[in-house]
Amino acid sequence: MSENVEVLSAPLTLSLAINSKCNLDCKYCYAQPFTWNEMKKEDAFRILDQAKKMQIFQVVLEGGEPTLHRDMFEILEYTLSLGFEANLVTNGTTMTPQKAKKFRIVAEKYQQWPGVQVSIDAVQSEINDRTRGKGERVKIGIETLLNEGVPISLGIVVTHSNVEHLKEIVDEYYPRITKYHFIGLMPTWKSTLYASELRLTEQDCKVLAKIDNEINQMMRRGPNLEVTMLRDKDDFPQVQDEQAKIVCNAGYHQIIVNSDLTVATCDIAPNISIGDLKHQTLREVWESTELKELRATGLPPCILNLQRDKHTKFSEIDKNIVTMEITKMRRENIASTYNNTSTKLTVSN
Ligand SMILES: C[S@@+](CC[C@H](N)C(=O)[O-])C[C@H]1O[C@@H](n2cnc3c(N)ncnc32)[C@H](O)[C@@H]1O
Ligand code: SF4
Repeated sequence: MSENVEVLSAPLTLSLAINSKCNLDCKYCYAQPFTWNEMKKEDAFRILDQAKKMQIFQVVLEGGEPTLHRDMFEILEYTLSLGFEANLVTNGTTMTPQKAKKFRIVAEKYQQWPGVQVSIDAVQSEINDRTRGKGERVKIGIETLLNEGVPISLGIVVTHSNVEHLKEIVDEYYPRITKYHFIGLMPTWKSTLYASELRLTEQDCKVLAKIDNEINQMMRRGPNLEVTMLRDKDDFPQVQDEQAKIVCNAGYHQIIVNSDLTVATCDIAPNISIGDLKHQTLREVWESTELKELRATGLPPCILNLQRDKHTKFSEIDKNIVTMEITKMRRENIASTYNNTSTKLTVSN
Protein backbone atom coordinates (compact mmCIF):
# COMPACT_ATOMS: atom_id res chain seq x y z
CA MET A 1 0.00 0.00 0.00
CA SER A 2 1.16 3.54 -0.63
CA GLU A 3 2.63 5.43 2.31
CA ASN A 4 0.16 8.21 1.59
CA VAL A 5 -3.02 6.27 2.30
CA GLU A 6 -4.58 7.13 5.60
CA VAL A 7 -6.66 4.41 7.17
CA LEU A 8 -9.03 5.31 9.96
CA SER A 9 -8.85 3.28 13.13
CA ALA A 10 -12.62 2.80 12.70
CA PRO A 11 -15.18 3.47 9.99
CA LEU A 12 -17.02 6.76 10.23
CA THR A 13 -20.38 5.18 9.44
CA LEU A 14 -22.00 1.89 10.27
CA SER A 15 -25.00 0.91 8.14
CA LEU A 16 -27.11 -1.66 9.90
CA ALA A 17 -29.62 -3.48 7.71
CA ILE A 18 -31.83 -4.73 10.52
CA ASN A 19 -33.95 -6.82 8.19
CA SER A 20 -34.12 -8.01 4.62
CA LYS A 21 -37.75 -7.77 3.68
CA CYS A 22 -39.91 -5.06 2.22
CA ASN A 23 -43.42 -4.27 1.07
CA LEU A 24 -42.14 -2.38 -2.00
CA ASP A 25 -40.18 -3.46 -5.06
CA CYS A 26 -38.25 -0.38 -6.18
CA LYS A 27 -36.65 -0.61 -9.58
CA TYR A 28 -33.17 0.27 -8.35
CA CYS A 29 -33.13 -1.35 -4.92
CA TYR A 30 -29.63 -2.38 -3.87
CA ALA A 31 -30.98 -4.37 -0.93
CA GLN A 32 -32.55 -6.98 -3.18
CA PRO A 33 -32.85 -9.91 -3.45
CA PHE A 34 -34.43 -10.07 -0.01
CA THR A 35 -33.71 -13.03 2.23
CA TRP A 36 -36.66 -12.25 4.57
CA ASN A 37 -34.19 -12.41 7.39
CA GLU A 38 -34.54 -10.30 10.54
CA MET A 39 -31.58 -9.32 12.72
CA LYS A 40 -32.14 -10.26 16.36
CA LYS A 41 -32.27 -7.22 18.58
CA GLU A 42 -29.61 -8.78 20.84
CA ASP A 43 -27.28 -8.98 17.84
CA ALA A 44 -28.06 -5.38 16.91
CA PHE A 45 -27.28 -4.26 20.49
CA ARG A 46 -24.01 -6.25 20.52
CA ILE A 47 -22.88 -4.70 17.23
CA LEU A 48 -23.84 -1.21 18.41
CA ASP A 49 -21.83 -1.74 21.60
CA GLN A 50 -18.82 -2.76 19.52
CA ALA A 51 -19.31 0.24 17.24
CA LYS A 52 -19.40 2.52 20.26
CA LYS A 53 -16.13 1.10 21.58
CA MET A 54 -14.55 1.70 18.20
CA GLN A 55 -15.73 5.34 18.25
CA ILE A 56 -17.78 5.00 15.10
CA PHE A 57 -19.88 8.14 15.12
CA GLN A 58 -22.74 7.62 12.69
CA VAL A 59 -25.21 4.73 12.46
CA VAL A 60 -27.71 4.32 9.63
CA LEU A 61 -30.58 1.97 10.41
CA GLU A 62 -31.99 0.55 7.23
CA GLY A 63 -33.06 -2.70 5.58
CA GLY A 64 -35.16 -3.89 3.75
CA GLU A 65 -37.83 -1.80 5.32
CA PRO A 66 -36.71 -1.23 8.93
CA THR A 67 -40.17 -0.27 10.19
CA LEU A 68 -41.28 -3.87 9.51
CA HIS A 69 -38.84 -5.06 12.18
CA ARG A 70 -40.75 -5.93 15.35
CA ASP A 71 -38.06 -4.38 17.59
CA MET A 72 -37.25 -1.35 15.45
CA PHE A 73 -38.11 1.21 18.15
CA GLU A 74 -35.96 -0.56 20.73
CA ILE A 75 -33.02 -0.70 18.32
CA LEU A 76 -33.46 2.96 17.41
CA GLU A 77 -33.61 3.99 21.06
CA TYR A 78 -30.58 1.91 21.92
CA THR A 79 -28.65 3.51 19.05
CA LEU A 80 -29.55 6.98 20.26
CA SER A 81 -28.87 6.15 23.90
CA LEU A 82 -25.27 5.32 22.93
CA GLY A 83 -24.90 8.84 21.54
CA PHE A 84 -24.54 7.96 17.87
CA GLU A 85 -25.58 10.33 15.15
CA ALA A 86 -28.43 8.06 14.08
CA ASN A 87 -30.37 7.97 10.87
CA LEU A 88 -33.38 5.76 10.22
CA VAL A 89 -34.36 5.39 6.58
CA THR A 90 -37.89 4.26 5.74
CA ASN A 91 -40.13 4.03 2.70
CA GLY A 92 -42.83 5.72 4.78
CA THR A 93 -45.64 3.44 3.64
CA THR A 94 -46.11 1.60 6.91
CA MET A 95 -46.59 4.75 8.97
CA THR A 96 -49.57 4.82 11.34
CA PRO A 97 -50.57 7.44 13.92
CA GLN A 98 -49.43 5.00 16.62
CA LYS A 99 -45.97 4.61 15.10
CA ALA A 100 -45.68 8.35 14.49
CA LYS A 101 -46.49 8.95 18.15
CA LYS A 102 -43.71 6.57 19.19
CA PHE A 103 -41.31 8.39 16.86
CA ARG A 104 -42.33 11.69 18.44
CA ILE A 105 -41.62 10.35 21.93
CA VAL A 106 -38.17 9.20 20.76
CA ALA A 107 -37.50 12.58 19.14
CA GLU A 108 -38.46 14.39 22.34
CA LYS A 109 -36.22 12.16 24.43
CA TYR A 110 -33.22 12.43 22.09
CA GLN A 111 -33.18 16.00 20.90
CA GLN A 112 -29.98 15.44 18.90
CA TRP A 113 -31.84 12.99 16.62
CA PRO A 114 -32.53 14.61 13.23
CA GLY A 115 -35.56 12.34 12.80
CA VAL A 116 -36.85 9.91 10.22
CA GLN A 117 -35.59 9.96 6.63
CA VAL A 118 -38.46 9.12 4.29
CA SER A 119 -37.81 7.98 0.71
CA ILE A 120 -39.95 9.51 -2.01
CA ASP A 121 -39.07 10.10 -5.67
CA ALA A 122 -41.79 12.60 -6.64
CA VAL A 123 -44.80 14.41 -5.21
CA GLN A 124 -46.88 13.24 -8.16
CA SER A 125 -47.77 9.65 -7.25
CA GLU A 126 -47.71 8.45 -10.84
CA ILE A 127 -44.12 9.69 -11.18
CA ASN A 128 -43.03 8.33 -7.80
CA ASP A 129 -44.62 5.02 -8.71
CA ARG A 130 -42.54 4.66 -11.88
CA THR A 131 -39.63 3.77 -9.63
CA ARG A 132 -40.97 3.08 -6.13
CA GLY A 133 -44.74 2.45 -5.87
CA LYS A 134 -47.39 3.31 -3.25
CA GLY A 135 -46.86 7.06 -3.71
CA GLU A 136 -50.21 8.00 -2.17
CA ARG A 137 -49.41 5.92 0.88
CA VAL A 138 -45.95 7.55 1.23
CA LYS A 139 -47.52 11.00 1.21
CA ILE A 140 -50.01 9.92 3.89
CA GLY A 141 -47.06 8.57 5.89
CA ILE A 142 -45.23 11.90 5.60
CA GLU A 143 -48.34 13.85 6.70
CA THR A 144 -48.87 11.46 9.61
CA LEU A 145 -45.33 12.11 10.83
CA LEU A 146 -45.61 15.87 10.30
CA ASN A 147 -48.96 16.03 12.12
CA GLU A 148 -47.37 14.34 15.09
CA GLY A 149 -44.47 16.83 15.00
CA VAL A 150 -41.80 14.24 14.17
CA PRO A 151 -38.74 15.82 12.49
CA ILE A 152 -38.22 14.31 9.06
CA SER A 153 -36.01 14.63 6.02
CA LEU A 154 -36.65 13.32 2.53
CA GLY A 155 -34.39 11.04 0.46
CA ILE A 156 -34.90 11.23 -3.29
CA VAL A 157 -33.10 8.95 -5.74
CA VAL A 158 -32.49 10.98 -8.88
CA THR A 159 -33.20 9.10 -12.10
CA HIS A 160 -34.36 9.78 -15.64
CA SER A 161 -37.93 9.14 -14.38
CA ASN A 162 -38.06 11.98 -11.86
CA VAL A 163 -35.30 14.43 -12.80
CA GLU A 164 -37.77 16.99 -14.18
CA HIS A 165 -39.80 16.97 -10.96
CA LEU A 166 -37.27 17.36 -8.17
CA LYS A 167 -37.89 20.99 -7.33
CA GLU A 168 -41.61 20.28 -6.95
CA ILE A 169 -40.81 18.13 -3.93
CA VAL A 170 -39.10 21.06 -2.21
CA ASP A 171 -41.93 23.36 -3.32
CA GLU A 172 -44.50 21.00 -1.77
CA TYR A 173 -42.84 20.38 1.58
CA TYR A 174 -40.62 23.37 2.37
CA PRO A 175 -40.74 24.89 5.02
CA ARG A 176 -42.53 22.03 6.77
CA ILE A 177 -39.56 19.86 5.84
CA THR A 178 -36.18 21.54 5.61
CA LYS A 179 -33.77 18.69 4.75
CA TYR A 180 -33.65 17.07 1.31
CA HIS A 181 -31.11 14.49 0.22
CA PHE A 182 -30.92 13.99 -3.52
CA ILE A 183 -29.19 10.68 -3.97
CA GLY A 184 -27.25 9.52 -7.02
CA LEU A 185 -28.37 6.23 -8.50
CA MET A 186 -26.02 3.40 -7.66
CA PRO A 187 -25.95 0.65 -10.24
CA THR A 188 -27.25 -2.66 -8.98
CA TRP A 189 -28.26 -5.83 -10.78
CA LYS A 190 -31.85 -4.58 -10.40
CA SER A 191 -31.23 -1.07 -11.74
CA THR A 192 -29.49 -2.39 -14.82
CA LEU A 193 -32.71 -4.21 -15.73
CA TYR A 194 -34.38 -0.79 -15.98
CA ALA A 195 -31.40 1.20 -17.24
CA SER A 196 -33.36 3.09 -19.90
CA GLU A 197 -35.89 4.33 -17.32
CA LEU A 198 -33.32 5.19 -14.70
CA ARG A 199 -30.07 6.37 -16.18
CA LEU A 200 -29.52 10.07 -16.60
CA THR A 201 -29.05 11.38 -20.12
CA GLU A 202 -26.95 14.41 -20.98
CA GLN A 203 -30.17 16.38 -21.26
CA ASP A 204 -31.11 15.25 -17.74
CA CYS A 205 -27.79 16.53 -16.48
CA LYS A 206 -28.62 19.95 -17.92
CA VAL A 207 -31.99 19.86 -16.15
CA LEU A 208 -30.19 18.95 -12.96
CA ALA A 209 -27.83 21.89 -13.25
CA LYS A 210 -30.83 24.20 -13.63
CA ILE A 211 -32.57 22.76 -10.58
CA ASP A 212 -29.35 23.04 -8.65
CA ASN A 213 -29.23 26.75 -9.45
CA GLU A 214 -32.87 27.24 -8.48
CA ILE A 215 -32.39 25.44 -5.21
CA ASN A 216 -29.29 27.47 -4.48
CA GLN A 217 -31.37 30.58 -4.99
CA MET A 218 -34.11 29.20 -2.74
CA MET A 219 -31.55 28.45 -0.04
CA ARG A 220 -30.50 32.05 -0.08
CA ARG A 221 -34.14 33.11 0.41
CA GLY A 222 -35.46 30.65 2.96
CA PRO A 223 -34.10 29.87 6.41
CA ASN A 224 -32.76 26.42 7.37
CA LEU A 225 -33.20 24.78 3.98
CA GLU A 226 -30.60 22.01 3.63
CA VAL A 227 -30.23 20.29 0.30
CA THR A 228 -27.57 17.77 -0.54
CA MET A 229 -27.37 17.38 -4.29
CA LEU A 230 -25.97 14.22 -5.75
CA ARG A 231 -22.91 15.84 -7.22
CA ASP A 232 -21.21 19.09 -8.01
CA LYS A 233 -22.28 20.74 -11.21
CA ASP A 234 -18.73 20.60 -12.50
CA ASP A 235 -18.68 16.82 -12.30
CA PHE A 236 -21.09 16.16 -15.12
CA PRO A 237 -21.81 15.32 -17.85
CA GLN A 238 -18.30 14.30 -18.82
CA VAL A 239 -17.96 10.66 -19.63
CA GLN A 240 -15.23 8.80 -17.83
CA ASP A 241 -15.40 5.24 -18.93
CA GLU A 242 -11.99 3.91 -18.08
CA GLN A 243 -12.09 1.34 -15.34
CA ALA A 244 -8.88 2.81 -13.95
CA LYS A 245 -10.66 6.07 -13.23
CA ILE A 246 -13.28 4.44 -11.06
CA VAL A 247 -12.02 5.11 -7.60
CA CYS A 248 -13.70 4.18 -4.39
CA ASN A 249 -13.26 4.41 -0.66
CA ALA A 250 -14.76 1.02 0.13
CA GLY A 251 -12.95 -0.21 3.19
CA TYR A 252 -11.98 3.29 4.25
CA HIS A 253 -14.91 5.03 5.90
CA GLN A 254 -18.04 2.89 5.97
CA ILE A 255 -19.00 -0.59 7.04
CA ILE A 256 -22.24 -2.35 6.22
CA VAL A 257 -23.73 -5.07 8.34
CA ASN A 258 -26.40 -7.15 6.66
CA SER A 259 -29.34 -8.65 8.52
CA ASP A 260 -27.63 -12.07 8.49
CA LEU A 261 -24.60 -10.44 10.19
CA THR A 262 -22.34 -10.68 7.17
CA VAL A 263 -20.28 -7.55 6.60
CA ALA A 264 -19.76 -5.61 3.39
CA THR A 265 -17.88 -2.49 2.42
CA CYS A 266 -20.30 -0.79 0.05
CA ASP A 267 -24.04 -0.55 -0.57
CA ILE A 268 -23.47 -1.35 -4.22
CA ALA A 269 -22.32 -4.81 -3.29
CA PRO A 270 -23.86 -5.89 0.01
CA ASN A 271 -23.53 -9.50 -1.11
CA ILE A 272 -19.75 -9.36 -1.32
CA SER A 273 -18.96 -10.33 2.21
CA ILE A 274 -15.67 -9.46 3.87
CA GLY A 275 -16.56 -10.74 7.31
CA ASP A 276 -19.18 -12.28 9.54
CA LEU A 277 -20.20 -10.92 12.94
CA LYS A 278 -21.52 -14.32 13.98
CA HIS A 279 -17.94 -15.19 14.86
CA GLN A 280 -15.96 -11.97 14.49
CA THR A 281 -16.12 -8.59 16.15
CA LEU A 282 -16.55 -5.41 14.17
CA ARG A 283 -12.98 -4.43 15.01
CA GLU A 284 -11.66 -7.79 13.87
CA VAL A 285 -13.37 -7.29 10.52
CA TRP A 286 -12.07 -3.71 10.22
CA GLU A 287 -8.54 -4.93 10.88
CA SER A 288 -8.91 -8.20 8.95
CA THR A 289 -6.64 -9.47 6.22
CA GLU A 290 -9.59 -9.28 3.81
CA LEU A 291 -9.96 -5.56 4.31
CA LYS A 292 -6.22 -4.97 4.30
CA GLU A 293 -6.04 -6.81 0.99
CA LEU A 294 -8.96 -4.82 -0.39
CA ARG A 295 -7.28 -1.57 0.63
CA ALA A 296 -4.02 -2.76 -0.85
CA THR A 297 -5.47 -3.42 -4.30
CA GLY A 298 -5.46 0.16 -5.46
CA LEU A 299 -5.65 3.79 -4.54
CA PRO A 300 -8.39 3.34 -3.62
CA PRO A 301 -10.02 0.38 -5.34
CA CYS A 302 -13.60 0.36 -6.55
CA ILE A 303 -15.89 -2.40 -5.46
CA LEU A 304 -17.16 -2.45 -9.04
CA ASN A 305 -14.00 -4.29 -9.94
CA LEU A 306 -14.90 -7.01 -7.49
CA GLN A 307 -18.49 -6.97 -8.60
CA ARG A 308 -17.39 -7.33 -12.21
CA ASP A 309 -15.42 -10.38 -11.19
CA LYS A 310 -18.61 -11.77 -9.71
CA HIS A 311 -20.10 -11.68 -13.21
CA THR A 312 -22.29 -8.64 -12.70
CA LYS A 313 -22.42 -6.47 -15.77
CA PHE A 314 -23.02 -2.75 -15.71
CA SER A 315 -23.81 -0.52 -18.63
CA GLU A 316 -21.23 2.15 -19.45
CA ILE A 317 -23.53 4.93 -18.28
CA ASP A 318 -23.98 3.27 -14.92
CA LYS A 319 -20.24 3.14 -14.49
CA ASN A 320 -20.11 6.83 -15.25
CA ILE A 321 -22.71 7.61 -12.61
CA VAL A 322 -20.80 5.58 -10.09
CA THR A 323 -17.58 7.33 -10.96
CA MET A 324 -19.13 10.72 -10.34
CA GLU A 325 -20.93 9.65 -7.20
CA ILE A 326 -17.85 8.10 -5.74
CA THR A 327 -15.76 11.14 -6.55
CA LYS A 328 -18.18 13.14 -4.45
CA MET A 329 -18.19 10.56 -1.69
CA ARG A 330 -14.43 10.79 -1.52
CA ARG A 331 -14.62 14.55 -1.19
CA GLU A 332 -17.18 14.19 1.59
CA ASN A 333 -15.06 11.55 3.22
CA ILE A 334 -12.06 13.81 3.29
CA ALA A 335 -14.16 16.67 4.62
CA SER A 336 -15.79 14.60 7.34
CA THR A 337 -12.52 12.92 8.23
CA TYR A 338 -10.87 16.18 9.01
CA ASN A 339 -13.81 18.18 10.32
CA ASN A 340 -16.27 16.02 12.15
CA THR A 341 -14.94 12.89 13.63
CA SER A 342 -13.31 12.15 16.90
CA THR A 343 -12.08 8.89 15.37
CA LYS A 344 -8.31 8.85 15.47
CA LEU A 345 -6.38 8.78 12.26
CA THR A 346 -3.59 6.31 11.86
CA VAL A 347 -1.35 6.14 8.86
CA SER A 348 -0.79 2.73 7.31
CA ASN A 349 2.37 1.70 5.62
C1 LIG B 1 -32.28 0.15 0.69
S1 LIG B 1 -33.28 1.45 1.26
C2 LIG B 1 -33.80 0.81 2.86
C3 LIG B 1 -34.73 1.73 3.59
C4 LIG B 1 -36.15 1.83 3.07
N1 LIG B 1 -36.66 0.61 2.60
C5 LIG B 1 -36.25 2.91 2.01
O1 LIG B 1 -36.41 2.60 0.85
O2 LIG B 1 -36.18 4.08 2.41
C6 LIG B 1 -32.18 2.76 1.75
C7 LIG B 1 -32.10 3.93 0.82
O3 LIG B 1 -31.40 3.54 -0.34
C8 LIG B 1 -32.02 4.08 -1.47
N2 LIG B 1 -31.62 3.22 -2.59
C9 LIG B 1 -31.97 1.97 -2.84
N3 LIG B 1 -31.39 1.51 -3.96
C10 LIG B 1 -30.62 2.52 -4.43
C11 LIG B 1 -29.76 2.70 -5.55
N4 LIG B 1 -29.56 1.73 -6.43
N5 LIG B 1 -29.13 3.87 -5.70
C12 LIG B 1 -29.30 4.87 -4.80
N6 LIG B 1 -30.10 4.77 -3.73
C13 LIG B 1 -30.76 3.62 -3.55
C14 LIG B 1 -33.50 4.03 -1.10
O4 LIG B 1 -34.26 4.88 -1.92
C15 LIG B 1 -33.43 4.48 0.32
O5 LIG B 1 -33.39 5.89 0.38
S1 SF4 C 1 -38.52 0.47 -0.15
FE1 SF4 C 1 -36.31 0.41 0.27
S2 SF4 C 1 -35.83 -1.75 0.68
FE2 SF4 C 1 -37.88 -1.65 -0.21
S3 SF4 C 1 -37.57 -2.08 -2.37
FE3 SF4 C 1 -37.57 0.16 -2.10
S4 SF4 C 1 -35.42 0.76 -1.75
FE4 SF4 C 1 -35.58 -1.46 -1.49
